[in-house]
Amino acid sequence: MNKNIAIDGPAGAGKSTIAKRVAKEKQLIYVDTGAMYRAMGIYFSRLGIDPSDAAAIAENVGGADISIDYEDGAQQVILNGENVTGLLRTEEAGNMASKVSSHGPVREKMVELQQKLGREKAVVMDGRDIGTVVLPDALLKIYLTASVEVRAGRRYKELVEKGEACDLEEIKKDIAARDHADMTREISPLRQAEDAVLVDSSDMNIEEVVETIIGLYEEAQL
Ligand code: DC
Repeated sequence: MNKNIAIDGPAGAGKSTIAKRVAKEKQLIYVDTGAMYRAMGIYFSRLGIDPSDAAAIAENVGGADISIDYEDGAQQVILNGENVTGLLRTEEAGNMASKVSSHGPVREKMVELQQKLGREKAVVMDGRDIGTVVLPDALLKIYLTASVEVRAGRRYKELVEKGEACDLEEIKKDIAARDHADMTREISPLRQAEDAVLVDSSDMNIEEVVETIIGLYEEAQL
């Protein structure tokens, strides 16, 4: 039986934190698809390719060999033989990923890899098009969101805790711009699948969101 969970939603909604927790509790493999697009962004940025240059992107996408591996249960992203996991979680990598992910040839390649993972393993996969395109038959689909203010506030706190200098207003602007780009692109824009359950975490803590999703998953398995 298909045991997969698809979690989609905008930047900073807490998808990866929640998905990791759900994966651990329900013994599923966590697949962070944003990390794959981030690695793709690094690949093009190292080649000096402008992320809006569709022809150059199409011409060079074949040279990016991206795969994932697990170390102590944590996803590692391998780009042409190099483990780039440590380079992925910056705002710059996120913005670059958002830009390169709007191109059809990039999406085709990533979707193929993600679908293969979803067939071979029972996964919790998070991203933007998981319920709509990658795993349309997932047992449970969640659209996880929160207000821009709440998402920006969480990101701000995370960066401050890491000791990184940041500005709340800048983060808010950045998140709103990325939402806009991800929701309005032509191919596979971020949207809630018709059969996805909307979870707005603006007034919920992590525990409450995890419990809600696990409850829905157990119901779906009956
Ligand atoms: O979830 P994230 O912030 O790591 O994702 C980075 C960018 O990658 C996001 O702004 C859009 C793109 N992305 C996508 O287009 N499709 C996905 N399934 C996951 C991410």
